[in-house]
Amino acid sequence: MGALTPERLPILIVDHDPRARAALAQDLRAAGFDAEAAAGCREALARLARERFGLLVVAVGMPEMGGIELIAALRSRAAAVPVILTSVRGSVDEAVEAMQAGACDYLLKPFTRESFAASVRKALSLSAGEGAPAPVRRSVDPDLAQRAIITQDPRMLEVLATARQVAPSSATVLIAGESGTGKELLAAYIHRHGLAPGAPYVAVNCAALPDTLAESELFGHERGAFTGAVARKVGKFELAGKGSIVLDEIGEMPLALQAKLLRVLQQREIDRVGGGMPIPVAARVIAITNRDLSQTVAAGGFREDLYYRINVISLRIPPLRERPGDIPLLARHFMEKFNSQAHRPAASFSAEAIELLCRGRWKGNVRELENAVERAVLLADGQTILPRHLQLAPAAGSTVEAAASGGIPLGTTVWEMERQLIMGTLSGVQNNRTRAAELLGISIRTLRNKLKEYREHAGALAAPKAAKGRGTEIAASAARGLPAH
Ligand SMILES: Nc1ncnc2c1ncn2[C@@H]1O[C@H](COP(=O)(O)OP(=O)(O)OP(=O)(O)O)[C@@H](O)[C@H]1O
Ligand SMILES: [Mg+2]
Repeated sequence: MGALTPERLPILIVDHDPRARAALAQDLRAAGFDAEAAAGCREALARLARERFGLLVVAVGMPEMGGIELIAALRSRAAAVPVILTSVRGSVDEAVEAMQAGACDYLLKPFTRESFAASVRKALSLSAGEGAPAPVRRSVDPDLAQRAIITQDPRMLEVLATARQVAPSSATVLIAGESGTGKELLAAYIHRHGLAPGAPYVAVNCAALPDTLAESELFGHERGAFTGAVARKVGKFELAGKGSIVLDEIGEMPLALQAKLLRVLQQREIDRVGGGMPIPVAARVIAITNRDLSQTVAAGGFREDLYYRINVISLRIPPLRERPGDIPLLARHFMEKFNSQAHRPAASFSAEAIELLCRGRWKGNVRELENAVERAVLLADGQTILPRHLQLAPAAGSTVEAAASGGIPLGTTVWEMERQLIMGTLSGVQNNRTRAAELLGISIRTLRNKLKEYREHAGALAAPKAAKGRGTEIAASAARGLPAH
């Protein structure tokens, strides 16, 4: 295998238009190349998993997955193949995007047989040159490659298409999805496709904002605005300029601050704490949440008017278990990333290892998968990754497993189930709250609030006029599972 040069490998044409496919294949064969064809990117990816090709010639705007997304997906492969993109509409933006994604050429249809053959020869000589295994990767900004969104899932591709469509506007976007699904990645993607990709990208974690300083963090303060305000402070909104401001975990924002944020969004201007003149806001707001905000609204934890303000365009990232086809793709992508970070040659997964990964529950979604692959890469030490290297199903995972497996007595409330899950996870990780929150897919703040709630119920039970609101039995069982305090 290693002796094969890219010239000898066949060229794969990926185009959903059967006539275009046939014509391109004919052109290539006439020029002395070996050509094969696939009707779409998914078929191409499936074939690439089994066969080797020296070059791909891919149409940009195909229905289920476009050429640019295919290049992103290809980056996850150990053997990177050079890609020529072809397009019928052709725009400067698309051409730039294609080259940034790592295409080695971008051809506008119709093109002559000669120019096509010349482009193919150039691509092949590039990939043969210096014996480099990855011409595609060399042309990619490493940072961009790191942040590429790897997927082949139709729903996810639709989310990306919507994101690209809304990116060049100033409309507020709300990104929702479970923990570790790639919400921050999507926010950065929107910024990159936005009106000012070169402008600042400022992210704020609303759950980590200290209550007392939150307002000045976001909106800034004037010198002397309060004790300790020794100098003027520029807030995050102002820092973002004409770029993007990302409000992560927006559901955790204290209500008082929500009111102020609403005002800022309505009036498009900020008042620094203790400040005089209002300052116009130019930044595009991207809000992120890992819970269902409409439920938080119903529960009184989030202002309804603010919810409607930020929910202009909403993008929901499906959890990994709902897009199992992405698991092998992402696993290979991460394996390659960790191998190349360690300057190790690319390895591979055994079929059993991939199968095991596909069966996983992935509560922590892509992040959990990434961590599992990182561990496996270390353990496998350059060899093929086997099931034993994956070390799946840690203690806390089995708690989740047990809780979800149906061994629950009838009549158990959701509240009690949640409590058991939380307490079980906590004990599974030796009361490490950060880790427990991660596994549970909730923020530390939420975890803290839940624990406080359980303590209060236990306290209420102990008090003479106990357990108003919720059933006494629940309060009693809450008391049983609580750590001593
Ligand atoms: N489709 C994807 N392709 C490549 N990497 C991904 C993808 N989705 C997620 N990741 C990686 O998974 C990790 C988690 O992603 P990210 O931080 O964006 O998730 P998140 O939804 O913001 O998580 P949390 O809710 O815990 O904050 C990151 O390392 C990110 O690069
Ligand atoms: Mg995040």
